[in-house]
Amino acid sequence: MRIGVLTSGGDCPGLNAVIRSVVHRAVVDHGDEVIGFHDGWKGLLEADYRKLDLDAVGGILARGGTILGSSRVQPAHLRDGVERARGHVADLGLDAIIPIGGEGTLKAANLLSEAGLPIVGVPKTIDNDIASTDVTFGFDTAVGVATEALDRLKTTAESHQRVLIVEVMGRHTGWIALHSGMAAGAHAIVVPERPFDIDELTELVGKRFSAGKKFAIVVVAEGAKPREGSMQFEQGVKDIYGHERFAGVATQLSGELEQRLGKEARPVILGHVQRGGTPTAYDRVLATRFGWHAVEAAHRGEFGMLTALRGTDIVMVPLAEAVETLKTVPAERYAEAECVL
Ligand code: F6P
Repeated sequence: MRIGVLTSGGDCPGLNAVIRSVVHRAVVDHGDEVIGFHDGWKGLLEADYRKLDLDAVGGILARGGTILGSSRVQPAHLRDGVERARGHVADLGLDAIIPIGGEGTLKAANLLSEAGLPIVGVPKTIDNDIASTDVTFGFDTAVGVATEALDRLKTTAESHQRVLIVEVMGRHTGWIALHSGMAAGAHAIVVPERPFDIDELTELVGKRFSAGKKFAIVVVAEGAKPREGSMQFEQGVKDIYGHERFAGVATQLSGELEQRLGKEARPVILGHVQRGGTPTAYDRVLATRFGWHAVEAAHRGEFGMLTALRGTDIVMVPLAEAVETLKTVPAERYAEAECVL
């Protein structure tokens, strides 16, 4: 079999572990040939690739990022994107393509699959918002990074008796905010699923100071927005791909809370540090299992499917189902965090 693999969309710790696993399972166990496309779908659209053998994936398991590179380019961005992809798959004699990506990548994978290309998807994102899988790799690493940052920020917040508003990633969902906020014992957690009321948030933080505490940590997901009419809020701007880029919710919240509370407040934007560096053991294992199962699915001819974690098992789910909706933070999960704020 000849398999093409690519990593697309925002990178994420664990991508290299999937690539390595695909190569090991395919080349060593099945005698397949594997090629890796450069910079996501762009590589497939431009037939820009290299051969991946055991040497190529040596020593990459613990390495962050992706040895193949990534981009947010998608076949749908080009008028002839699907036809180009189909042509290159045929010219290269590919029997299977394994795209590793998040929401946008999986939508593109589904589009190509519906156009008849042999696709087996692997979900990834630090945001953990792919509905078909219990967990995506990268999430555990990102939560660890954010939690460590929050622990460190607590000591400086305390020294200066400040309110620190810490912005974590999560444009549509608040999983990183929820988990890191719980793990670090934040005093307020603000997620996109629950537009915040600035009066309620001020009261929550204010109560802490009234109770004699000297500092507060507010964790906010980058995609969080105020309840309508709650406060003046600058919305995000669109990037070159039409994705919303945020205008800095932490900065806006920090200004507002400082005025309202009469306490020094500072925004801290963790940004891409959450996506960088070595994956945790959990993420390496999940990524490795996904790679193994993607190759197996390809050998069974199970195309148009996505690897997914359900409980402790890896299962295959239809790509079409996986792209229908995002996995948001349910009210009950938020309530569990709320009671310990
Ligand atoms: O989807 C993963 C993610 O890290 C989001 O949490 C974040 O909004 C986005 O990617 C940032 O993307 P970029 O690297 O293109 O700025």
